Amino acid sequence: MQTDFPALPLPWPTDDMAQQELAHLGGNPVIGHGFRKTLFPVITKEDVLQMQISILRNHSNSEAQFTEDYRNYVGAKYAIATASGTSALHLALVGAGVTPGDEVIVPCFTFIATAQAIVAAKGIPVFVDIDPVNYCIDVAAVEAAITPRTRAVMPVHVHGLPANMPALRQLCTKHGLLLVEDASHAHSAAIDGTICGALGDAAGQSLMADKNFPVGGEGGIAFFADEAKYKRARAFLEETGIDYSMSGIVAAFGISQLKRLPYYDAIRQRNAAYLTAELAKTGLFTGPEVPATYVHAYNMYRIALHPAAVGLDDLPIHAVKGAVQELLVAEGVPAREWQNKPIPGHLPFQNRQGFGQGYPFTLSQRDFSEYSLDRFPNALKMLASTLTLCRELRSPVETERIQSYALAFHKVAARPDAIRKLATENTYPLPYERDGRLG
Ligand SMILES: Cc1ncc(COP(=O)(O)O)c(C=O)c1O
Repeated sequence: MQTDFPALPLPWPTDDMAQQELAHLGGNPVIGHGFRKTLFPVITKEDVLQMQISILRNHSNSEAQFTEDYRNYVGAKYAIATASGTSALHLALVGAGVTPGDEVIVPCFTFIATAQAIVAAKGIPVFVDIDPVNYCIDVAAVEAAITPRTRAVMPVHVHGLPANMPALRQLCTKHGLLLVEDASHAHSAAIDGTICGALGDAAGQSLMADKNFPVGGEGGIAFFADEAKYKRARAFLEETGIDYSMSGIVAAFGISQLKRLPYYDAIRQRNAAYLTAELAKTGLFTGPEVPATYVHAYNMYRIALHPAAVGLDDLPIHAVKGAVQELLVAEGVPAREWQNKPIPGHLPFQNRQGFGQGYPFTLSQRDFSEYSLDRFPNALKMLASTLTLCRELRSPVETERIQSYALAFHKVAARPDAIRKLATENTYPLPYERDGRLG
């Protein structure tokens, strides 16, 4: 049997590593090939025992206990555990009161399931641009997109940073709209002490393997701010006979893992704070900006590039990004794109077949010209000029690993000559000119 346990600990990082030759040019990588894997979730004896108990127990008992434990942790009034984040978002929208043909305003930059959940609720996704700083839905763009058919606004707390919920709440109150969160990246993220999932009229959240609170493969949960919305979602399940329930084993793993969520959150906070402080010293890179009363969950960590700081602003920024990505990957830092195209540019929204014969898009009078990519300049700019760390910061990584990542960023930022060479010799297509990828 082969285990995931690493053969050796990471070598202790030392400052001189940042001065050595780039790995891309034949030097030693900051993180060697045998040391690149990170492990998450960590599975303990308690987890295994809970799962064993759940198999012998009535499956719905585990589901009910998980729902209650996690609802209580989040501070939401009502909850329904589900089989996935997508089904949770569908239930959140239906429970909130979205009905066929209603328009739901949603950011153009998210995972495709946010918008597909609106289609599942037979609503019409109306995409708007993102804010250039927090990468979440742009509040002014939301206001400009409101029509008499608008029923809800669906912010996504992208990467784990809460969207500007106070401003969105004000807007929704002013226009009589529902506020439905996609909290899939935002486990334990908060504004003024209120955790995402409890900020809107309803919320959906994924608990799948890539999330900060993974319950084992797939899972999700929908939250509701009042009984009427909760009952509407329950009635939908009963009347349609659609089974979205969470598996008992998954729920049992969640019950056990929830006890350690604050521990993992604290490690993520510590690691992100260290990396943000280090990136700020490089000139070329900066980490996320987090408003004072907000808690970022760091499900993903998006890094902005500033080529002017190292004399590379004469080059196309996406070419600088492509070159930097290659250099970082060679050093053992898995910097990647998370999403390469705004969601309206993906085929299901370009083709608008929906459930067949164009339903529910046929319920709308819109011409859908707003599904064209040039309507989203902030998202396009972000996709061309940023890189993301995903699993590497989400996992409870060792101090020496986060230090090594920081050293690699310093090492690459100190070599504008090598970045320039790669950026001019290679052809890097604009990310959104490639086919849309789902992650
Ligand atoms: C923002 C966002 N919303 C919704 C989902 C859908 O969740 P699931 O894959 O659990 O259905 C995801 C999944 O990655 C996501 O990232």
